[in-house]
Amino acid sequence: MIIAIDGPAASGKGTLGKRLADHYGYHHLDTGLLYRAVAAQVLDEAGMVDDPESAIAAAQNLRIERLDPVQLGRPEIAEAASRVAAMPALRAALVAVQRAFAAKKPGVVLDGRDIGTVICPDAEVKIFLVADPEVRARRRAAQLGAHDAEAFARILDDIRRRDERDIHRAAAPLRQADDARLLDTTALDIEAAFRAAVDIVDERR
Ligand code: DC
Repeated sequence: MIIAIDGPAASGKGTLGKRLADHYGYHHLDTGLLYRAVAAQVLDEAGMVDDPESAIAAAQNLRIERLDPVQLGRPEIAEAASRVAAMPALRAALVAVQRAFAAKKPGVVLDGRDIGTVICPDAEVKIFLVADPEVRARRRAAQLGAHDAEAFARILDDIRRRDERDIHRAAAPLRQADDARLLDTTALDIEAAFRAAVDIVDERR
């Protein structure tokens, strides 16, 4: 079984994806880490973030089992990831690795922006995870231990800018697949969101 979770920045896809994978004994891939790892490598090599050749070279060096969410969690990497992710040639270079992961047994959870629409259009379960931008920024700020108003404003701004780019790009933009279930966690904590997602998955199993 393939469970596809898509949604905007900081909507809790990674946390929910991991919880679901643990619950069902499935493999989990946070596909945002692929774009983040490419962006981090381009930045490290002082390459130009909008240059497809640098991005594709970085993609060829990716080791999926070595992606480190902590190291790749920095805001400047997130911003650069959203920029490299707008390049069709890079997206094309990352399709095979994601589909190979999706074939793992007994099942997988993949989260990202285009899993239900492009990478795994035949996924048995598709969840489109959303929450109001202010709520997402508050959760991200708490995660980063940032408690002042200035930090909150910056995080909210980053989230809005990334959403804007991810939704309006031409290549595999963020959108809800026609057959995806909408899960709005604005008023839900992690536990309630997890239970709602399990209900959606169990209905299909
Ligand atoms: O989910 P995240 O915040 O780690 O993703 C970082 C960026 O990568 C995001 O702004 C857009 C891009 N991304 C994408 O275009 N497609 C995916 N499947 C996952 C992430």
